[in-house]
Amino acid sequence: MLARLAAKRLLEIRQVFRQPTSQVTRSLSTALNYHLDSPDNKPDLPWEFSEANQSKVKEILSYYPSNYKQSAVIPLLDLAQQQNGGWLPVSAMNAVAKVIEVAPIRVYEVATFYSMFNRAKVGKYHLLVCGTTPCMIRGSRDIESALLDHLGVKRGEVTKDGLFSVGEMECMGCCVNAPMITVADYSNGSEGYTYNYFEDVTPEKVVEIVEKLRKGEKPPHGTQNPKRIKCGPEGGNKTLLGEPKPPQFRDLDAC
Ligand code: FES
Repeated sequence: MLARLAAKRLLEIRQVFRQPTSQVTRSLSTALNYHLDSPDNKPDLPWEFSEANQSKVKEILSYYPSNYKQSAVIPLLDLAQQQNGGWLPVSAMNAVAKVIEVAPIRVYEVATFYSMFNRAKVGKYHLLVCGTTPCMIRGSRDIESALLDHLGVKRGEVTKDGLFSVGEMECMGCCVNAPMITVADYSNGSEGYTYNYFEDVTPEKVVEIVEKLRKGEKPPHGTQNPKRIKCGPEGGNKTLLGEPKPPQFRDLDAC
């Protein structure tokens, strides 16, 4: 079973690399690795941290020695992305470069390397499907198809109402509750930003989550399996039910 799924995945990867370049870019986690000027994304568009975020910038910088400001690049990019509705235009990256006093290329390198930084517009709710092996074996392809079909978009596209987009991330560290998705909620700026995991999802469950978000509700995150508590075994513990015995020690009195 595992071998069959692995072979299927290998075939999918091969097919991706046989596609034309534009489709390859869309099919992998990082949607955009290069910059082309466009009316809403060019260096001469002004961009600054908001007044409320200026104090957060100061706080972030205070965590690092003053001669290592550049170490703050990731939290500052994250803050800029939250402020900017979930994506990083080139002028936001330039603003970060100015704050940490480095050449802009140093910031571009980071923003294009990490897939959690979006270089193109995303929806107010950016849905990320984990595509790594444990989630894939547990049905992440069906989860993604359910989301794309329900929303009527392709991966990386934003719905017409600007509410949703679907992307892919690699392992998000809760494989025990695979398959899972993350919802990055940019609907309330950096103040109300949340990044929540929804685990043990099914195609029906993710559609339900989308519809709750659409209505402005906050669906409960974490495991969606009612038989599981957090990441414990389904149906409760089956092993290690008693108090653990202390480890054996040498009887020192007998020595
Ligand atoms: S493989 Fe999906 S969370 Fe680890």
